[in-house]
Amino acid sequence: MFDNGSINFDILKRRAYNLRWATVPEGVIPLTAADPDFPCAPEIAEDVCRFAKERYFCYGPPEGLPEFRESMAGYFQNKRGIPAAPDHIFPVDSAAFGIYITCKAFLSPGDEAIIFDPVDFLFRYSIETVGAKAVPFAIPPGTDIVDFELLEKLINNNTKLICLCNPLNPTGKVFTRQELESLGKIAIKYNLLILSDEIWSDIIFSPYQYTSVASVNEEIRDSTITITGFSKAYGLAGLRIGAVMASNPGHYKKLLEASLHNSTVHGANVVSQVAATTALNKCVYWLEDFLKHLQAMRDLCVGELNTVNGFKCIAPEGCYVAFVNITGTKKNSKEVQQLLMDKAKVAVVPGLKEWFGEGAEGFIRLSFATSEDVLADALSRIKSTVNSL
Ligand SMILES: Cc1ncc(COP(=O)(O)O)c(C=O)c1O
Repeated sequence: MFDNGSINFDILKRRAYNLRWATVPEGVIPLTAADPDFPCAPEIAEDVCRFAKERYFCYGPPEGLPEFRESMAGYFQNKRGIPAAPDHIFPVDSAAFGIYITCKAFLSPGDEAIIFDPVDFLFRYSIETVGAKAVPFAIPPGTDIVDFELLEKLINNNTKLICLCNPLNPTGKVFTRQELESLGKIAIKYNLLILSDEIWSDIIFSPYQYTSVASVNEEIRDSTITITGFSKAYGLAGLRIGAVMASNPGHYKKLLEASLHNSTVHGANVVSQVAATTALNKCVYWLEDFLKHLQAMRDLCVGELNTVNGFKCIAPEGCYVAFVNITGTKKNSKEVQQLLMDKAKVAVVPGLKEWFGEGAEGFIRLSFATSEDVLADALSRIKSTVNSL
């Protein structure tokens, strides 16, 4: 299911945007945006076709299709140990929109929100878009146990939100229960909300265990907005589908208002909700196989990258991206990215502030959600280019 033969490169070259196959020159391998090269599980396509053949694409409920909310609640209860009810959850047209509406609902101009550094750009983007300030908390790649007490020093009267990205894109760190307990305690002590972005939570490598911060205890759960999505684990990025969950009814109401779903200005596409429901109900076997493949690709990627002169790569605990320290090359991340693009014909994401924050300089990020053939080719090109410098 996850070999080279299963990838349709002709389709990817027409459809895969966001720095991927459709946007790079012929011959370039894009290990850029974290979007798998593989087609989604067949059951998702079948259920979407069945729905489409009925030829009714009516308005759905603003709070989502009942079957979507029930499946999501089951997922949070059974897989995450969160006593979530369907009426704590509504679909959004992406995890990115979930982050944005959380910022819109709970931050005002002048407020501050703590983000990790490095972390995906979406947090800073959403915080700044609503006029608030993003305050970085450094979690350098390779940090084993985070001392969240240090985070307390960043809190002042303007602080309203802590953005937790677990597992952490781009470093692949999976936070332990103990770390989450200490983060939760701080949030409660200072009356702060936690935004927990868990879009990567199904991509966890053995032997690491995933804990949702909202599962730690009721008090923490009451202060947490949990966000997830279907772009990473099920390869549905173009369907723009995710979910937000808040067990605190006041928080839920504010989020729904901020979403503009009730006015139909925004809303989660019903076809995407059908696809996501099928993913949860019928495609767990597919995710398990995908994860086995990813674990092998992670090992291949990390092993090979550590043989490149000047590169150092720690194995990610979660997420299908490798975050590589390139400081040994004596070049900055932009220079290495350009070199790999021009000479190796491999596209990667440079560790620039605009992508991951200031703490990302000295690193590049590579996605390994592709076949062994594509990955081995890309890694061999990278190695021969850099080792012949
Ligand atoms: C941490 C994190 N959150 C959110 C997203 C965006 O997800 P979506 O496609 O659902 O907007 C990404 C995508 O890379 C991500 O890494």
